[in-house]
Amino acid sequence: MGTIQFKALTFNYSDQTQPLFDHVTLQFDASWKLGLIGRNGRGKTTLLKLLQHQLPFDGQLVTNLDFQYFPQTVTEPTQLTRDILMQLGNLDNSTFWQVERELRLLQVASEIVWQPFDSLSPGEQTKMLLALLFIDDYHFQLIDEPTNHLDQEGRQVVANYLRQKAGFIVVSHDRHFLNQVIDHVLAINRADITVHQGNYQTWQTAHDQQAAYEQQQNQQLKGDIKRLTKTAQQKAQWSHEAEKGKNAASVKTESANLDKGFIGHRAAKVMKRATTIANRAEEAIETKQQLFKNVEIAAPLTINQRPLKPGQNVLSVDELVLQQDGVILNQPLSFTLEAGQQVALTGINGAGKSTLIKALLALPATDHIASGSLHLNPHLTLSYLPQDFDQLSGSLADFAAAKQVDHEQLLSMLRKLGFDRDLFTHRLETMSMGQKRKAALVRSLCEEADCYLWDEPLNYLDVITREQVQTLIAEQRPTLLFIEHDVDFVNAIATQTYALQPQH
Ligand SMILES: Nc1ncnc2c1ncn2[C@@H]1O[C@H](COP(=O)(O)OP(=O)(O)OP(=O)(O)O)[C@@H](O)[C@H]1O
Ligand SMILES: [Mg+2]
Repeated sequence: MGTIQFKALTFNYSDQTQPLFDHVTLQFDASWKLGLIGRNGRGKTTLLKLLQHQLPFDGQLVTNLDFQYFPQTVTEPTQLTRDILMQLGNLDNSTFWQVERELRLLQVASEIVWQPFDSLSPGEQTKMLLALLFIDDYHFQLIDEPTNHLDQEGRQVVANYLRQKAGFIVVSHDRHFLNQVIDHVLAINRADITVHQGNYQTWQTAHDQQAAYEQQQNQQLKGDIKRLTKTAQQKAQWSHEAEKGKNAASVKTESANLDKGFIGHRAAKVMKRATTIANRAEEAIETKQQLFKNVEIAAPLTINQRPLKPGQNVLSVDELVLQQDGVILNQPLSFTLEAGQQVALTGINGAGKSTLIKALLALPATDHIASGSLHLNPHLTLSYLPQDFDQLSGSLADFAAAKQVDHEQLLSMLRKLGFDRDLFTHRLETMSMGQKRKAALVRSLCEEADCYLWDEPLNYLDVITREQVQTLIAEQRPTLLFIEHDVDFVNAIATQTYALQPQH
């Protein structure tokens, strides 16, 4: 296999004041199972686009590989899924069985290829495109966040597939997944780009050690400078007093004058030395702070929940069966949500989890309800975070105003999630997937509500943001109904978990 090499890669989008990549030189082997990691908006997707020459850049790219990118672009989602897959995969009736084989592996009913693509759930859509990826042996694959929207089984199938593949680049924020499939890491850090041998855990350990070392150094230096500054101030004070004393004495006697002159001179010397030491320490701190540049900052988040009476009933679901266009989705489900609980809804892709939330929001209309009952306390205000957000557009100010959220509060919370100030004036449609997701999540946090409904909140979010959200929920305990496939997150915060079982 070959290599992939960037020489002095420099690139920025037209509205960016700082280059996203500034004279970056990188080389990696095409046999590596390379995990591309970094916080949202650092340029992971852009780097994959640059590899495919989809954007013009300065510098040089040397490679002889043919790339394939996941997720493929579906330009006409109203068409039949089967037709779309045939076009994208260059398949015909005699070769389409390969896709069906992979769909079985992904545990999805292959009949749904006869439905329009846009009628499938996001998880099902992801599985369709993954099936195409799995049958392609000719290209070097650039796989951008394959596990979003996928159920547990789906994630495992992708991991198994990648484990037996020779070389690829995969972008993911899913640590558990990465640890299973990669043998090298390409990390886009705050201030540089680094390549490591090993999986995510190996990288994390090295990164944490470096951060802890820098932090300790920094603490020590901070102590030093405090001490030095105090000494310098004392010396200055002493010198000043000595000078004052000298002037007062000079009007009295000749000998006293001489004496004070000597003291004044000595004080000035001490003072000068103290200032030099202090300056040196300042410089040392500054250099150290440069080294500190790759340490990520995670500020605590807040949520504008309104207090409910503990134990107050919010939602009762009794023997509920959902339907979509006349098709029954699930086996009967019963549960309740009370104030202060965090209830997780799990279940395989297509089982009807999002439909349940849609049914809730549509009340009193009951179009999605085939049988059973769904009762929501009508006096409560809800904040809904939808699963789909690709289509977000417009300014952050308008986005906040649409839900009566204070613009400044939205921005300040986005800062806590690592948004650069530069980005505040950008339009949502030009933002990275994770940045859009953060905007939507933050708006929900800022909304004043009694109960929060979150549909797969963690999709596309970087590792640090996931931890920030987890800490917030664990500490504030808002009344929350959420759908999530990330087991670690569900285990960490759910007070109850209910699985929606599909009809077949
Ligand atoms: N079409 C565009 N026009 C202008 N700016 C863009 C465009 N696409 C991306 N950007 C900006 O470039 C930066 C890198 O975006 P990119 O999508 O490569 O990030 P990413 O690392 O893939 O993030 P994520 O983890 O959220 O997917 C972001 O700050 C983003 O706002
Ligand atoms: Mg991306």
